[in-house]
Amino acid sequence: MTQEILVIGGDGDLALRKLYPAFFALEIAGQLDDVGCITGISRALRDKDSLLERMLPALKLLDGFSDEIWEKFKARIHCIQGDATDAQTLRVYHDDLPEQYSGVIVYLAVPPKVFGGACRALRDAGLASENTRLVVEKPLGSSKATFSQVNQEMSDSFSEHQIYRIDHYLGKESVQNLLALRFANVMFGAIWGGNYIDHIQITVAEKVGLEGRKGFYNEIGALRDMVQNHLLQVVCLLAMEPPANRDPFMIRAEKLKVLKSLKPMTSEMIKRSTVRGQYIEGSVNGQVVPGYNDDLFDSNNSVDSEKSDTETYVAIRAEIDNWRWSGVPFYLRTGKRMNTRKTEILVQFKQPKHVIFGTNNSICPNQLRIQLQPDEGITLHFLRKQPGLEELTLEEAELNLTVPEARKKNNYDAYARLMVDVIKGDQTLFVSAQEVEASWEWIDQIIELWHSTDMKVKSYAAGTAGPVDAAVMIAQDDRQWSDLES
Ligand code: BG6
Repeated sequence: MTQEILVIGGDGDLALRKLYPAFFALEIAGQLDDVGCITGISRALRDKDSLLERMLPALKLLDGFSDEIWEKFKARIHCIQGDATDAQTLRVYHDDLPEQYSGVIVYLAVPPKVFGGACRALRDAGLASENTRLVVEKPLGSSKATFSQVNQEMSDSFSEHQIYRIDHYLGKESVQNLLALRFANVMFGAIWGGNYIDHIQITVAEKVGLEGRKGFYNEIGALRDMVQNHLLQVVCLLAMEPPANRDPFMIRAEKLKVLKSLKPMTSEMIKRSTVRGQYIEGSVNGQVVPGYNDDLFDSNNSVDSEKSDTETYVAIRAEIDNWRWSGVPFYLRTGKRMNTRKTEILVQFKQPKHVIFGTNNSICPNQLRIQLQPDEGITLHFLRKQPGLEELTLEEAELNLTVPEARKKNNYDAYARLMVDVIKGDQTLFVSAQEVEASWEWIDQIIELWHSTDMKVKSYAAGTAGPVDAAVMIAQDDRQWSDLES
């Protein structure tokens, strides 16, 4: 018996750029054996041939593309032209399902304002039974209140265990590796927490700017776009307690405890512990690029022409108020139009309490660096003795835990990984409603404080490491950001 896949918004940007390539990568890997048809549905879809034509360029870029696999994949693709908020359209799909199928995976690749209507139509068409899985992704609201509303609309037709909320960061190899590193190695278990860790930094630096999403981005800004979801999920995996087993619900419960332990900001803390930035004109990859407001208000501008105060960069000193992490700051930063593209976690350990090596040796503390992008890598930084007969001198050394290139599976981007899990019905890498709610709660109060204390954005030139204020923020604690260019 097969799983059937229905992509609502079947010819949209998300479907063409991410979903069909992910399914195709699974076809190459022989992971679609339990899948029947993949049906795209959309009002604008003309016919199967034009859908195939539009999806093909992205598929051809995948390693392992061959005409034989393309033929096999083509046979799975179907399309329906129609309105997915109309139960009648979905009944056509329902009535066409094979006699024996094990379930339907419905991907809502449409804006959240359509979720409610689509979920009702699915239910009315008999497609919301226990064996349906519903896959959705951000933006899931822009505050706790708006999330609850969207979530309620889904929950009216589907139970929580049927809903798979994607955070594509959880599909990245290095993010999943956090679980392996932390819970498969006794060494890390013993030193993980405030007794040995000085602080943690999480950086998501991007070179790209608005990428055609002006209206959307200007409404939400970097905090809601990146921190509420991706960065806080990474914080959860770094800070959670060991779950009793790998049951998804155990893991989610531990992650939720982290989110609920995030220390709320206060009006005294907000200016000391957060920085809002916005890029101005600068140079990226040797090319002059306009500032954010000029990007917004070019000739095709769809955005109100008053100067925008939306942040394109945010830095936060977060604290987790629990036994393990009390006193260990988590410094988070993310921004657009920065000097580099780099996503990295830095776990900085403490200095040894007592040093016996004399003043000619500086002791740099151990570091664990987990690089997510552009290249994946895990390195542990130590000190060792320089070889030779001279007086003992320390030198830095690196233990490289990175998976060798030859063993990397290039086709498995985050979506392919997550789709395999949806097909298997494994919720481990998906986010629960309670987690989303708890992260919005923390984000909402930061936004409220930004408003009530009238915190304006600080400028940074495009192509730099962000506003100076972010360096000042961390320097208050006698620490510094890791070098983005290294
Ligand atoms: C998305 C954000 O969720 O993540 C984008 O909306 C951002 O603004 C993207 O560019 C970053 O994802 P990745 O995988 O390239 O780090």
